[in-house]
Amino acid sequence: MSAEDLIAAARAAMARAYAPYSKFQVGAALRFADGAVVTGANVENASYGLSLCAETVAVARALAEGRRGGLVELAVVASGPDTVTPCGRCRQVLHELAALGGIDPVIHCVGPGEVREVRLSELLPHAFGPGSLG
Ligand code: THU
Repeated sequence: MSAEDLIAAARAAMARAYAPYSKFQVGAALRFADGAVVTGANVENASYGLSLCAETVAVARALAEGRRGGLVELAVVASGPDTVTPCGRCRQVLHELAALGGIDPVIHCVGPGEVREVRLSELLPHAFGPGSLG
């Protein structure tokens, strides 16, 4: 699967976002080493602070499916005017799954007219993870 296909999967997920409060829709698509793609969209709540980000939903889906690593790359796309990068909490949540597989995934951060490619370790250097507990 190409990066374009992964971005298309993130866009399709974004269309299913439940974001009636912020109206800011986000989609994420995770690609695994076995070729599987797991997507997520943001899920908001009337109690605003309980809202879930797209990346976190995707990671939770992957873990709940039994995945414990193999995350190679992901794409994130949002409905806003700027290039979207995962929020701080999502960086940490992504790191958990990435660290289980020992892979530093590429993140395709989609914006209007550009796709910024960064490694998760660039967004979250010196991360705390599963290996940090001893
Ligand atoms: N959001 C995400 O889904 N991912 C991010 O990385 C940043 C923010 C969502 C949360 C909320 O539903 C909306 O975007 C506005 O913050």
